[in-house]
Formats: sequence, C-alpha cells, structure tokens
Amino acid sequence: MLNFVLHSPTRIHFGQGVVNQTGDIVRQHAKKVLLVTGRSSTKKTGTLQKVMASLEKSGVEMVLFDRVEPNPRATTIDEAGELARKEQCELIIGLGGGSAMDAAKAIATVAISGRPIHEYIRGNQTRLWKTLLPIQQALPIITIPTLAATGSEANSGAVITNWETKEKSSISGPGLFPKEAILDPELTYSVPTNYTSDGAVDIFTHLYEAYMTGDEQANVQDEITEGLIRNVVRYAKQAIDTPDDYEARSHLLWSSTLALIGIPNAGRGGSFPVHQMEHTLSAYYDISHGRGLAILTPAYFRRVVKEDRPHRLARLGRAVFQVSAPNDVEAAEATIQEVIKWFKELNVYDTLEAVGVAKSDLQMMAEETIRISGGDQNYIAGTRSLYAKDILSIFEEVYHTQV
Ligand code: NZQ
Ligand code: ZN
Repeated sequence: MLNFVLHSPTRIHFGQGVVNQTGDIVRQHAKKVLLVTGRSSTKKTGTLQKVMASLEKSGVEMVLFDRVEPNPRATTIDEAGELARKEQCELIIGLGGGSAMDAAKAIATVAISGRPIHEYIRGNQTRLWKTLLPIQQALPIITIPTLAATGSEANSGAVITNWETKEKSSISGPGLFPKEAILDPELTYSVPTNYTSDGAVDIFTHLYEAYMTGDEQANVQDEITEGLIRNVVRYAKQAIDTPDDYEARSHLLWSSTLALIGIPNAGRGGSFPVHQMEHTLSAYYDISHGRGLAILTPAYFRRVVKEDRPHRLARLGRAVFQVSAPNDVEAAEATIQEVIKWFKELNVYDTLEAVGVAKSDLQMMAEETIRISGGDQNYIAGTRSLYAKDILSIFEEVYHTQV
C-alpha cells in the first residue's frame, strides 16, 4: 500500500427527511445564500419548495439561480458568480445532480476571485490553471444531491465545460470541500430510469478505474471497492424496478458518496482514463456522463485491462459477478461478459453512433483527450500509457456495434 493523506472534512447528514433540516444547518454558516439548481427537476418534484421553506423557517435569506444545465457551462458559472457577488451571498448551496453541485463549487470560486471560471479548468489553453489550482479559497458550500452518481456532494472536485472551446475538465482544491452535505435518499425517488442507470454506471466507473490502474497491494481498499460495486449492481436494478424503494435508493446514494470520498482510493493511487476519454465526448456532444462511460467501458476492459492486468478483471468478476473460471484470462473475459449483461439490463449498452457522434470527429476527439488530460505528455495514464492512437481504437470499436 502506498503512503497517503486522507482529508475528508464534509459533515454528512444522511436519512429520510433530513432535507427539512436544511435551514437549521445552513444558518450555522450564513445568513444569506445563493441557492443553485438545475432548470426544472427540483421544481417539478417539489424539492426546491421544501428547501426554500426550510431556509425561510430558519430565517436564512436566499437568492435563487435555477439555470444550471447538465454538463454545466463556464458562461453560466460566471453569470451566477457575478450574481453571488452583487447580492453579497455568504454561502452557495448546490441542489440537484452533479451538475448543480459542481456548479455551486465553481460559483463559490468565482464569487471570491472574480476570475472567469474557464481559467481554472485543468488542461485549458490559457494554462492559467497551472497556477490557479488547487483552489484554496471559495465561499462555503453546502450540497444537497437529488441523484446518486457523481459523489460531488462530499468531494473537492467539480467538472466544468467551456462550451466555446469544447474543454471539459475538472477544477479542484481544498477550498471546494462542502462544509455540509445533506443526503436525503427520498429526493432521488423521482430520478427517471435512464439517469438512475447512467448514475449507477458512473458510480461503478469511479470504483473500477483506480482498482484497475492503481497499486495492487491495497487489499483493504480492494475489498471496500468490491463491496461497494456489489451494492451498486444489486440496488441499481431494484431502484429502476421500484423507484420509491427506500432501501435501494439509500444504498445507491451512499455508494455514490463513498465511491469518490477518498477512502476506496487512499493508498492506491491510480488514474481515471475512461473518465478523461468520456469528458471529451460530453464536451463535444453534450451527452450524459454516465452513458458515455457505459459506451467506453467494455472496449476499454477488453483492449487495455484484459491485456495488461487480466487478473484484476478476473478478481472483480469473482468478487462481484460470481465468475468461476480458474484461469485469469478466461475469468477476465467472463467478467467483461457479465458487465455487458448488467449494462443491457440497465439499458445502457450503447454506441457512439447512437448518441449522435460523427465518425469524422473520432480522431480529433482522441487528440483532444490527450491535450486536455495529458498534462505536458502525449498520452494519458492507465495500466499503460494511452496515446491518441489507442484512444482512437477504443472510440472506433464502440462506434457502430459494441464489442
Ligand atoms: O437539470 P435538472 O432539471 O435538475 O434535471 C436533471 C438533469 O436533467 C435530472 N435530475 C436530477 N435529479 C433529479 C432529476 N430528475 C428527476 N428527479 C431527480 N431527483 O437529471 C439530469 C442529469 O443531472 P446531472 O446533474 O447532469 O447528472 P449527474 O449527477 O450525473 O452529473 C453529471 C455532471 O457531473 C460531472 C459530469 O461530468 C457531469 O458534468 N462529474 C462530476 C464529478 C465530481 N464532481 O466529483 C465526478 C464525475 O465523474 C463527473 O465527471
Ligand atoms: Zn464520473
């Protein structure tokens, strides 16, 4: 196991009805807040009204910004950051999926610094991110997730898209840790089937990426990871079949938080190449993050992990999918088949063509992945260095038909 520092300072309030405590929790930090949410779901479900009522009851003044789009854009962040400054808000609440929570973190940054958020986006052309990251200072942040997926509720990262330059990447730093996260699984009952599935694949990918690429002497972390993946596989289908099943929704939400809170990957290192490839897809085509990950995963497993570390795929399959083949290479292939079977059950087994990607863009997107996520190298890290040609071959493999 590698040496590590684990810093996870977000106070978590978990359970049925905790959303109604929002006002009391917020009041301990601020008297006036910017409430950041997406364009429609929190209004339709009544969650926004619940949060607003709780804030009002506790005497917290609130300014609403309800225009965050999925895959939040830099221009939207800048506008909301300006609003927070003008209104002298003392804290930012992110209410919604990863997009609203990430937006809240970015707005909290801009509200203090006054700088456009695109300057902070890792890998962007200005190269200012090299000096601006990690972000130390932002307004205090409180998250209220309504979708189990990203884990943004309790980590110090956010993903923002500069739509004009098609640069989608992370911002991060200790200043972005939410002070409090209010996790009420009932808020996720209304998540439709497609986003429940995409979210489950996102959680699964957060768990498997470092498991495949990181240090292999971290058995505690490996078993935590396998346990969380078992829960995601078990409860995703249950949540789809019975959307208001508290057991399923609470296990999915808690798994999403734990997957990216730092514990599974502490002492393991590892890299996130599938995420880096996917961010290019959603930067250009505005597709759902989880769906993009589902499209790429089978080909990544077969072309890269099965060749480099078949024993890791084999271990995953034995621990999660009851794969019984004694030979690691055969077990690795059986694991890939099990993952595909699970993706089919979730209805996320898809192709780039079907989500609207033009074949003529594949080469360019492979190169862009390297430009944004390769640092100063001409590759992204994984079980091996992945060059543009390797990324292209994965994109091509999942273009028409799945492997
Ligand atoms: O936008 P609204 O109207 O709120 O509707 C959303 C959106 O259409 C809807 N939704 C959310 N909660 C709902 C609901 N619909 C009904 N009932 C509810 N309870 O779902 C749609 C998708 O929401 P979004 O927030 O975009 O999804 P997700 O949570 O998957 O977040 C995706 C974003 O997070 C980034 C992704 O790249 C993407 O930009 N990520 C953030 C990470 C982080 N901060 O740690 C890590 C991830 O790997 C990821 O990259
Ligand atoms: Zn993700």
